[in-house]
Amino acid sequence: MIENFEELREAALACRGCKLCETRTNVVFGVGNPKAKVMFIGEGPGENEDLQGEPFVGRGGQLLDKMLEHVGLSRKTNIYIANMVKCRPPKNRDPEKDEIAACIGYLRNQVYLIRPKVIVCLGRIAACSLISPDFKVTRQHGEFYEKNGVLMMGTFHPAALLRNPNQKPDGLDDFVKLRAKLDELELAEEKL
Ligand code: URA
Repeated sequence: MIENFEELREAALACRGCKLCETRTNVVFGVGNPKAKVMFIGEGPGENEDLQGEPFVGRGGQLLDKMLEHVGLSRKTNIYIANMVKCRPPKNRDPEKDEIAACIGYLRNQVYLIRPKVIVCLGRIAACSLISPDFKVTRQHGEFYEKNGVLMMGTFHPAALLRNPNQKPDGLDDFVKLRAKLDELELAEEKL
């Protein structure tokens, strides 16, 4: 494991560990507070993220920011956001197993350095990779699972909520549950 966050970022920015490096514009390492107690993990960068080098900056990201704000969370202060893969899969296809495998070491290293108390998986790809391979977002969203001393929760991917706005209330409800869990764990206040 790399022990220094900036060194880890530099290693990821130079990565040529899978074929996604050939088509990327930027490596999208992650954004937020590296001392956050809550981490959000998406699938992989889309077009806007690839161009700007930051996760969730498109329409889905705007929705995510609004839902976070609703429960007093923000990428500017008290959370960290990363993805399963750090380079954009062409045409926004799902990341492939070998690409996730090639990239997971960076994510594990991020989790190791950040030491979050809660990890929220945004969508099926992250939830199936990190919680359980047969995770069903529609049935299991909003439920907390403990893995290696970290609470894990899966919820809808913001892009799915844009496609199916009828699921937005359930999605927002998951964020409210997250807030309640953080309050229960007294993680509301970030000690920097
Ligand atoms: N979708 C994701 O899963 N991650 C991003 O960063 C952007 C869109």
